Amino acid sequence: MFHWLEKRPFFFAVFLFVTIAFAGLVEILPGFAQASRPVIGKEPYTILQLAGKNVYMKENCNVCHSMLIRPFKSETDRYGAYSLSGEYAYDRPFLWGSKRTGPDLMRVGNVRTSDWHENHFRDPQATVQGSIMPPYPWLFSKEADIETAYAEALTVKHVFNTPYTNDQVPEGNPSRAKQIALAEAEAIVAELNDRKVKDDFKQGKISEVVALIAYLNSRK
Ligand code: HEC
Repeated sequence: MFHWLEKRPFFFAVFLFVTIAFAGLVEILPGFAQASRPVIGKEPYTILQLAGKNVYMKENCNVCHSMLIRPFKSETDRYGAYSLSGEYAYDRPFLWGSKRTGPDLMRVGNVRTSDWHENHFRDPQATVQGSIMPPYPWLFSKEADIETAYAEALTVKHVFNTPYTNDQVPEGNPSRAKQIALAEAEAIVAELNDRKVKDDFKQGKISEVVALIAYLNSRK
């Protein structure tokens, strides 16, 4: 058979292509199986956290901050365990970032508290001497967009089979979704000092800063 092939360059090329392509498939296909892509220690974002992630993207925090700890000692000493691919399973889009003007925020939830964030967003220089991070006073007066976050959660639940239960992301029920976000926001609002944020919350409004802190606190 090989003798026959060796005399026919065209069929030899086809044979070679099929053989290599088959070997390639055997190598690549298992990588797409769910079992070989474990989701490590991460829950999908709650509606409130998603709203906070949207604030993070809207304000372009990722221009100055990364969310990816590389496997080097200098990084793991400073930021904690290096990032694993499965930790981004529900991060759509992921926010690895490509520049660090400020520190990595992948696990910032382990090192900062809600009221620290509050003071820092209002006046970074008063919180960290010599900081060049800009202040974000409007986060305290603008309302977080819970409806969009809810629509987003519902979409990834259906399109990507993100494992949300009905208690986390209810089907076709925006007002219930708002209730769930409010319940989660309550604990954070209690930790903050800002009067306006507290007053707004009493009227059923969630400030952007509250959603953003929920997102940052979830980074562990
Ligand atoms: C112009 C660049 C820049 C932008 C934009 C920026 N930051 Fe920062 N950020 C810094 C720098 C520099 C520091 C370090 C000094 C400090 O803590 O203030 C920092 C520190 C932080 C810290 C403290 C991290 C730690 O481990 O101490 C958090 C949290 C943070 N930023 C969140 C944000 C969020 C959220 C946004 C968007 C709303 C944002 N930053 C936008 C530059 C930036």
